[in-house]
Amino acid sequence: MSVQSAIKRKTAPEILARKRGEPIVMLTSYHAHTAALVDRHCDVILVGDSLGNVMHGFETTVPVTLDMMILQGSAVMRGSRQALVVVDMPFGSYEASREQAFHSAARILKETGCGAVKLEGGVRMAETIAFLTERGIPVMGHIGLTPQSINTLGSFRAQGREEAGWAAIEKDARAVSDAGGFSVVVEAVAEPLARKITQDVPIPTIGIGASAACDGQVLVLEDMLGLSPRTPKFVRRYGELGPAIEQAIEGYARDVRSRAFPGPEHVYEMKKTG
Ligand code: KIV
Repeated sequence: MSVQSAIKRKTAPEILARKRGEPIVMLTSYHAHTAALVDRHCDVILVGDSLGNVMHGFETTVPVTLDMMILQGSAVMRGSRQALVVVDMPFGSYEASREQAFHSAARILKETGCGAVKLEGGVRMAETIAFLTERGIPVMGHIGLTPQSINTLGSFRAQGREEAGWAAIEKDARAVSDAGGFSVVVEAVAEPLARKITQDVPIPTIGIGASAACDGQVLVLEDMLGLSPRTPKFVRRYGELGPAIEQAIEGYARDVRSRAFPGPEHVYEMKKTG
């Protein structure tokens, strides 16, 4: 048995069993090195398609491809040991048919080794969620604000701000649960709605900008670290790494320009001790 396989990763059924239990801690990661850090403290690591914004500077997640998700999903699997790794299905990889979704999700599971996929949509994706789960692919739903639909939504505004809009979002949550989804991300909805959904559905709700009423929380790592150029208003920053990184780069540039950069002695020193 390899060292890796001696450590048991969390599974989708274990996360499902956390409904109304200990809150589920989830963060995004796209790289092996941040995955190793996140893995020590989180139950779930999401390889989100937000990597399109964070890593690649795209305005939206629409341009993200299946190959990009598989590449970064594999890196996160290499960097982590105990968390359930969930990889986002990118726009265009699952909406056309249940079969298209199965082929894409199967590629993600086979090529990354992750434990589940996430896809956006409730009622409209229910058949697909059932098709995947019946065929051995655990699915996390994503309702409320669904960023891949930006071109039909028109903006990244919070959803369900008026009570009149709540019923549709509640139906979405119920649809994900009835179809066999093991949990559902609820993005940018008002607290009373998030609370109602959390009470009503038997699967864990994982909130992002949806209040503490949910069964767990997720944030984009770079947003909470103060590394993203634009951060949604609801994000609490737990660090301000942007200025710290810039300070380090400035120090390096200053050393190089003033020829204070460590010389060969330093390198030999490192070789001796390393
Ligand atoms: O892509 C992502 O990072 C996400 C989270 C914002 C939930 O879907």
